[in-house]
Formats: sequence, C-alpha cells, structure tokens
Amino acid sequence: MATKKTSPRRNPMDQIMQASAAFGFRVYKSVFRHSWPDSARTRSLATMSNVFLHLHPTTIRRASLKVTYTFCLGGLSFFFFLVLTVSGVLLMFYYVPSVTQAYQDIKDLQTVVFAGQFLRNMHRWGAHAMVIVVFLHMCRVFYTRAYRPPREFNWVVGVLLLVLTFLLSFSGYLLPWDQLSFWAVTVGTNIAKATPFVGPEAQFLLIGGYEIGQNALIRFYTLHVIALPLAAAVLIAVHFWRVRKDGFSGGL
Ligand code: HEM
Repeated sequence: MATKKTSPRRNPMDQIMQASAAFGFRVYKSVFRHSWPDSARTRSLATMSNVFLHLHPTTIRRASLKVTYTFCLGGLSFFFFLVLTVSGVLLMFYYVPSVTQAYQDIKDLQTVVFAGQFLRNMHRWGAHAMVIVVFLHMCRVFYTRAYRPPREFNWVVGVLLLVLTFLLSFSGYLLPWDQLSFWAVTVGTNIAKATPFVGPEAQFLLIGGYEIGQNALIRFYTLHVIALPLAAAVLIAVHFWRVRKDGFSGGL
C-alpha cells in the first residue's frame, strides 16, 4: 500500500529560535561591523570602527588639516557652547529668577560664593567669545565659499545657530536684574514693538505684560536656560552630521 508523502515539518519552537537568532545576529552586525577580534586585522578594525576608541576618521585629506583654512573657528564655537553650558548649570545653583532676589544673588555670587566671581566671569566672557567666534566662523565659511552646494542646507542650519547665539546672549542680559539689564531689555523689546502689524503683540508675548517685571524675568530665564540651549544643542548635532555627510570643503 502506498503511503502518503509528507514534507518534514519543523517544530514551530525551532523556527522561532532560528528567527530570533537571525534577528539578533543582524542587530549585532549593525552595531559591530567586523568579525570577532581574534587577529591583528580584526583587532585593528574593531578599534578603528569604534567611535569611543577612535573618534577621528582613519583617513583624511592632508590639505584639510591646515589650521589656517578653518582657524578651528567651528570647533571653538562648540567649545564655548560647552563652557557656557557647564558654567551656566553651576550658576543655576546660586541664582533665583525673582525680581526681589536676582540682583542680590549675583552680588553674593561675586562676594560670598567660593570662586563665584570666576564662575560668573567665565560665563560672561564665554558668552562674548562665543558671539565673536560664531560670527568669525560664518565669515570664514563665506570667504572660502563653503556655503555653495552641497553645503547650502548646512549654511541655513548655521544661520539658525547664529540667531540662537544672539538670542541666548540677549536673554541672558536681563538676568542680573541691574540697571544695564533693565534698560537694555527695555530698548530691545521696544525694537520688537516696532515690528509692522504685530509689534505690540510681539512685545507683549516677550515680556508677558506692558513693562519689564517678574513676568519678563521668568520668561527670559526659561528661554535662556531651557528652550534656547536645547534648540542650539539639537541644531549643533544636525550641523556636525551635515559636515560629515556633505564632506568638508577644505583641501579640494
Ligand atoms: C553654535 C554655532 C556653530 C557651531 C558650534 C559650528 C560648528 C562647526 C564645525 C565644528 C564645523 C567644521 C569645522 C570648521 O569649519 O571649523 C562647521 C562647519 C560649517 N559651518 Fe558651522 N558652526 C556654527 C555656526 C555656523 C554659522 C553661523 C554658519 C553660517 C551661517 C555655519 C556654517 C557652516 C558651514 C557651511 C560649514 C561647512 C564648512 C566647510 O565644509 O568648509 N556654522 N561648523
């Protein structure tokens, strides 16, 4: 009697195990692109393809290493951004954004807090330096015509970073709550008031009222310590990603 032929059926559990092993392998390969480091070649591949062990690319055009091409102005802009972030977070431990306390907090920082004067000056001078180097970096990019395709998108990201740098500087100006801050921001927000059609609304939105007071201080503080630095950090990440993607213009 003829027996019916059946195809050998695999155990569903085996199938699941195989599928998950294949998936796991794919994930592993997406993280580690080389085989197990058991020879001189795979060991050097493991080191060079690891961003923590080898931050810089393995090959680079000699001409793009010339310091006089960039003067490291983009790197310096980032350096000052980091200095300002760290010193700014430390300043937040001593500063309360209240019209009754802010001025005294800054005075205490300069006279009572250990190294407070140094901390405040680091933040203040760092801010001036960042505005200057970001502007000079833009001039360098313009001078070397690095804004042309394929880098036009990164130029636009750069312009946004320039605006954010100015806004960070301006919003920080009010925080010491002294005469200079008060009148500088009065002038600045009056400029916003002169915007055609939406001027008074823009000024009201900025200072949360009709004159500079507690509402303005808390708005500027929140913009200065959260919204603007976060936006700048995201855009800096996009900026660096585009520098890598578009290829650096130097040495062509
Ligand atoms: C927070 C502000 C900024 C930071 C941290 C920053 C950082 C950098 C860095 C590290 C580089 C690569 C090396 C170098 O050129 O020095 C670069 C390149 C570039 N940046 Fe910026 N940048 C900033 C603002 C700007 C501004 C304001 C512009 C223009 C409006 C701009 C446009 C560009 C362009 C087009 C490149 C590519 C240059 C090339 O390939 O030669 N960046 N940036």
